[in-house]
Amino acid sequence: MTVILKIRARNPESLFISASAAALREGKTVVFPTETVYGLGANALDKKAVKKIFVAKGRPSDNPLIVHIWHRKQLDALVKEIPPNAKKLMQKFWPGPLTILFYKTKKVHSVVTAGLAKVAIRMPSHAIAKALLKKANVPVAAPSANLSGKISPTHAEAVIDDLNGKVDIIIDGGDTSEGIESTVIDVTEKVPVILRPGTITKEQIEKAIGKVTLHPSLVSKRNVSAPASPGMKYRHYAPHKEMILASSEKIPSTLRRLKDKEIGLILTKTDECGMADASVFIGPGKKRIAKNIFKALRQMDKMHVDVIVVEMIDEKGIGFGIMNRLKKAASQIIE
Ligand code: TXA
Ligand code: MG
Repeated sequence: MTVILKIRARNPESLFISASAAALREGKTVVFPTETVYGLGANALDKKAVKKIFVAKGRPSDNPLIVHIWHRKQLDALVKEIPPNAKKLMQKFWPGPLTILFYKTKKVHSVVTAGLAKVAIRMPSHAIAKALLKKANVPVAAPSANLSGKISPTHAEAVIDDLNGKVDIIIDGGDTSEGIESTVIDVTEKVPVILRPGTITKEQIEKAIGKVTLHPSLVSKRNVSAPASPGMKYRHYAPHKEMILASSEKIPSTLRRLKDKEIGLILTKTDECGMADASVFIGPGKKRIAKNIFKALRQMDKMHVDVIVVEMIDEKGIGFGIMNRLKKAASQIIE
């Protein structure tokens, strides 16, 4: 049975935090909000607890998990060393939506890293996540709290749809603010490599530590043989319905072509389009688009439509991270 606890983000020091923290320490699974997406957490030092995450999500065991901490002192037990670039990034972006790879110590079990020598670590800034991690005071392994291959949840209803009955506790802390998953960077390489783009952009990172590169899988169009993060090779972020990503100019012709179908339209630039059966405007601006896109996709998926059409955006700034997710979800891209 899953217990659902509603916690106000503004005042998270409640009994519910203590109960959830105790559950984590006892090896149970707890879903909690972060500023990016909801995470499905378990004590990262408890192998049996971590295995429950893979079972609940239906996640392949070769896809490693991010370990969440609330304080830097927790790093000592988890990582072999903290490279100078990592220090700078932690200084600038933690707590926040940036995940950093480090060489792991023996304390981190290979179930967490899927056998890799490096462990991904993140310090979230969400008030509930912070309070929970502090109270539990154990590092918490947590992937996004969706069924494997589905869209990451940015509100509790999405978590409940996917994981009710499969986890011990779900904390409902309302909508998340960033809306797409954290930026993942490997600074153990000579030139640091971004493995997953997020709302902390390459430009912001370069301002802090100088030149970084994008993993080849993020620049070449499709079908790259060596995925950046093991997780990148799986079909991701996919709604159940067919999804078409179309440029603003191609939206009218796309809608005409699909006129025999029920169309759900997700608009990012203009909120005027009469030809769709259902439509939602998730802008203006990329911050808002990032915050709303996963919820909009999930909601459209539940509506009575045959196909979802999403209006493309440019890849500047956080547009790169948003488009990265949309391209993966799309079965067709019309530019
Ligand atoms: O914003 C986020 O990062 C959210 C919240 C809950 O913190 N978490 C999240 O976790 O998105 P997940 O498991 O859905 O995505 C983690 C990504 C995967 O693509 C995984 O392969 C990659 O990070 N990753 C984790 N550990 C890694 C490692 N040791 N080496 C390379 N990639 C790693
Ligand atoms: Mg995920």
